[in-house]
Amino acid sequence: MADERQPQTGAPAPRVLFVDDEPLVLRSVRRLLALRQPGWDVAFAESGTEALELVARGPAVDAVVSDMNMPGMSGAALLARIQAEHPATIRIVLSGQSDPVQVFRAVPSAHQFIRKPFEAGALEATIAGALAVRARLPTDALRALVGGAGILPAPPSTYLRLTHALSRDETSLAELVPLVESDVALTARLLQIGASPVLGLPRGSVDLLGIVLHLGVDALRALVLGFGLAQAFPVARPPRGLSLGEFEAHSLCVGGLARTLLRGDPAADDALLAGVLHDSGRLLLAAVAPARFAEIDELVARESLPPPSAELRVLGVTHAGLAAALFALWGIPIGIVEAVETHHGTPDQMRSKVARAVHVANRLAHDPDVPVDAENAAGIHPAALDGIAAAALARARATARDALGTAAA
Ligand SMILES: [Fe+2]
Ligand SMILES: [Fe+2]
Repeated sequence: MADERQPQTGAPAPRVLFVDDEPLVLRSVRRLLALRQPGWDVAFAESGTEALELVARGPAVDAVVSDMNMPGMSGAALLARIQAEHPATIRIVLSGQSDPVQVFRAVPSAHQFIRKPFEAGALEATIAGALAVRARLPTDALRALVGGAGILPAPPSTYLRLTHALSRDETSLAELVPLVESDVALTARLLQIGASPVLGLPRGSVDLLGIVLHLGVDALRALVLGFGLAQAFPVARPPRGLSLGEFEAHSLCVGGLARTLLRGDPAADDALLAGVLHDSGRLLLAAVAPARFAEIDELVARESLPPPSAELRVLGVTHAGLAAALFALWGIPIGIVEAVETHHGTPDQMRSKVARAVHVANRLAHDPDVPVDAENAAGIHPAALDGIAAAALARARATARDALGTAAA
């Protein structure tokens, strides 16, 4: 499909569509971008209906930036339509609301959020950053892997219902708990998770409400998405080299440790989500291409290759890139997508402390005593600790030892 091309060097200028019912806002954006990004092909619409017509008429739009509150079709409804019909299009919401958590709750299909009134630099950087991430992600490889027909796994249904419930302001915790409990398999897992030391829950908190009260709603959403992935990627018979139990324990461990590394920081729940999701590409591969999963596993064993190198050789992409591409299509915020994408990368590729926390947590989950050493590829590079306090690292090491059952006497 023309709208799912990936911009590359020499590719056509990115086409960006702005939607706002205030002509003044559109005029100022037009002036600003003509000055700062003359290479972009920028289109404007004053309503959701007009925007959909423009998108349908073509040429394909790479990013839609929409106001939240508009008469007729709201920004949330417009971006949800764009997500359903053109999943690879970047979706950005403009909002006067200042708390991104509230905005992503109200507009769950948005990848990014720009605060209104906006500064020229922030507007341009947010759009350019999102376009760059999309251009990098192996969306075509993901499509090829899942059958090429464009049928991609949908997000887990309980996650969608939870996200929908959270998009209404008046939803209370008391309403969320039965919603999650209606998914029996997921609830059983969440209760097991409640007993894991990596989340630091008080011993004995055995009911879902207790877990939710302790962790908070955003952490609950992270766990529901992470542990609902088994529904999105049902693995009929796990290929050799994959134990679903170990996979889940590792995912939870990395999420919990990433959250510990940023404890007290507003980004801690993002770190939990990105950590829980970081290796989902392996689950996706096992579900849709078990023979290739086994081939990669053999190559890793035979040549002692790091798994991402073996994946590149067999598939041309890594599990990190595949999962990032899928999560971007689902509308998971770009910061989380980037953290998943770069968890095996070098510190200069990790552009946020969430990404660095996930990378460091993954190292600790494999070896709680891994050294901090710039020379050792298997160690933690000191640059990866930017934004992570020494005390938090020590706490995460202790938690990792506890979780792995290797606590020294
Ligand atoms: Fe990984
Ligand atoms: Fe991992």
